[in-house]
Amino acid sequence: MWFKKDQKETDELTYFSKSWMEEWKKSINTSDNYKKKGKSWNAPIVLKIEPKAESIKEEDATGIFLNLSYGECLELRYSTEKDEQTCNLILKADSKTWINLIEKGKDPTMSILKNSVKLEKGSLIMLSTQRKAAEALLKTAPTQQDRHVTSAVTKQDQPKKEPSHTSFKTTTHGLNFESFPMKLFQKAKIYGIWNPADIGLSADQDEWKEFSADERKILIHLSALFMAGEEAVTLDLLPLIQIIAQEGRIEEEIYLTSFLWEEAKHTEFFSIYAQQVMSGPKDFESFHKPMYKILFYEKLPRALHALRDDSSALAQLKAAATYNMIVEGTLAETGYAAFSNMLKDNNLLPGLLEGIEKLKQDESRHIAFGIYLINRLLDDNPSLGEELEDLLEELLYDATNIIHEIFSQYDTVPFGLEKEWFLNHAIKQFQNRMAKLNL
Ligand SMILES: [Fe+2]
Ligand SMILES: [Fe+2]
Repeated sequence: MWFKKDQKETDELTYFSKSWMEEWKKSINTSDNYKKKGKSWNAPIVLKIEPKAESIKEEDATGIFLNLSYGECLELRYSTEKDEQTCNLILKADSKTWINLIEKGKDPTMSILKNSVKLEKGSLIMLSTQRKAAEALLKTAPTQQDRHVTSAVTKQDQPKKEPSHTSFKTTTHGLNFESFPMKLFQKAKIYGIWNPADIGLSADQDEWKEFSADERKILIHLSALFMAGEEAVTLDLLPLIQIIAQEGRIEEEIYLTSFLWEEAKHTEFFSIYAQQVMSGPKDFESFHKPMYKILFYEKLPRALHALRDDSSALAQLKAAATYNMIVEGTLAETGYAAFSNMLKDNNLLPGLLEGIEKLKQDESRHIAFGIYLINRLLDDNPSLGEELEDLLEELLYDATNIIHEIFSQYDTVPFGLEKEWFLNHAIKQFQNRMAKLNL
């Protein structure tokens, strides 16, 4: 059962226990955010838990009672039926819904609209004026995740354990050549050994001179997005490889050596192309607009580098969802498909087309590994599926925003590129990947 599983996993934090309530009260009263957002809330509230949570042992307890006064919590304890009679605001949900809201720090008024939380007493209009306060209040509640962060910090504070091996795969069982990562590695050694520096670019250089300013602009624009994208995935992959190595997953690490090498070559390819054909990369970064920056400058590096302090399954899932499912599996895949169709259909830039075709092949192995990794993590942690779906939904939104952002800069896009095609293809790619996840 969902709730019990949480208890078993940590033995430290039990939602709705007395110690949890004490901790929550302390957390409200030390939160600057709640102090600010809850400054106009002066009323008690009952968060009713029905059916009663297993951790609540008191017979007459119906949920949690909070007496809130201008950004402060005066009292936090179990509620009783008597409180329900005197209190003017009662929200009711089952323990799973409450935990979900608390862990995600979500706005509970939305849940009332979606019917997962019931407004048993009180006015929705009044509550909606306090949305920010309610959200800030739930964010202060202690969660399992905080506990993980705290334990990670504590772990860091502990004296460092010297790394050591207890045995080796090759000298005990032997490498598992039937495993998916080893099969990918065999393919990488055949298809991934192309050399970007060997691709002939003289025809491209001649054609480039003939293009109009608009045609050059869209080619540079798309290349500037791919170029930084390839560099970002090269820079950000290492923390994931590090975790896989720490966990002793030698077959996966063997495959990942080719993965990183290939990303490095993709970065090299675009850089050669920019310098030898496009006379760049001067001003290329001006094509990196806010939506693009959110994903490639912020979310991607944050998701991957978070692994340096947090090796949990959830952190790994977030990294793979951002890197493999969205950046590679949805955006890059769509961009390369559109780019190569455009070049093929118009019989243009054979060097660029050759590079992109090779790159697409490498990427299909990367995405396949990402899906394998996500499924391995989900098989061991099925309870994380819901969180992964929420994250993917958010990231898909980021990805489609980038496509809108690209096309908003053109009245007519040269070479017959169409926004609808990009959007449909991106969503289709995303759906194909989702169908392969064990959700
Ligand atoms: Fe790549
Ligand atoms: Fe890749």
